[in-house]
Amino acid sequence: DRETAASCWSGKVHLLESVLSTQEEAKQLAESGAPEGTAVIAEEQTGGRGRMGRKWHSPKGKGIWMSVVLRPQLPLLLTPQLTLLAGVAVCTAIRKVSGVEAGIKWPNDLLAGGRKICGILLESSLHEGELHYCIAGIGIAVNLDADDYPEELRGVGTSLLLERGGRPVDRSVLAGVVLAELEALYTLYLERGFAPVQLRWEAMSVTLGRQIATNSPEGRRKGIAVGMDEQGFLLLQGPDGTVSSVCSGEIELI
Ligand code: BTN
Repeated sequence: DRETAASCWSGKVHLLESVLSTQEEAKQLAESGAPEGTAVIAEEQTGGRGRMGRKWHSPKGKGIWMSVVLRPQLPLLLTPQLTLLAGVAVCTAIRKVSGVEAGIKWPNDLLAGGRKICGILLESSLHEGELHYCIAGIGIAVNLDADDYPEELRGVGTSLLLERGGRPVDRSVLAGVVLAELEALYTLYLERGFAPVQLRWEAMSVTLGRQIATNSPEGRRKGIAVGMDEQGFLLLQGPDGTVSSVCSGEIELI
């Protein structure tokens, strides 16, 4: 329902049937000058992309496949904060609309019952060494049933439908609330910085206090996730008690 999703957001929302990836559509719009807040939502993606070059399974009419153009004036080093921000906004919206108690696994996977329910892909475009724009891609598995998952995702991914014992969620209502939460939190971030986002992230985290292993470019490290610093890096306490930060890559909850 076009009205519902679009009325919660001050940017223009483009609703499309079938695309390769909403990331590419949003990028094209951004390249041709689309203002901050321009969003693209598709019913289906035939070439949906995940992090680390993975594919993102995006079957027709079953999820929210969405990309949003952001144009913050930020040093490049701080763009990972936007990933965390998007995770908080989506997690809040999912909890409000579906009642599913999703949590955030650093940096930006949303889990429900230990399984992945949403992924976020933040891509930045540079111009003369400075941040030009960002595309925040959000993929939420809303009404996927067990047999909508390919073999390799069974047991790894879940959906709001599955977590609610078969009760579907209205995708337009959820998309509208995701956009409203994103806009509110982004506005707060521009006004007050990362601290209010960090507080919310910590409260929704399923990572803090857990034993984790990293697969970061610096190699594999194990320890306890003890906090997050003001840039959004995860703080890891190793077996010898020293605390170091994890800035990129992926972690495993062990
Ligand atoms: C991940 O967890 O690996 C990130 C997944 C991001 C998926 C979304 S769906 C909308 C947007 N378009 C894409 O091709 N990818 C993102």
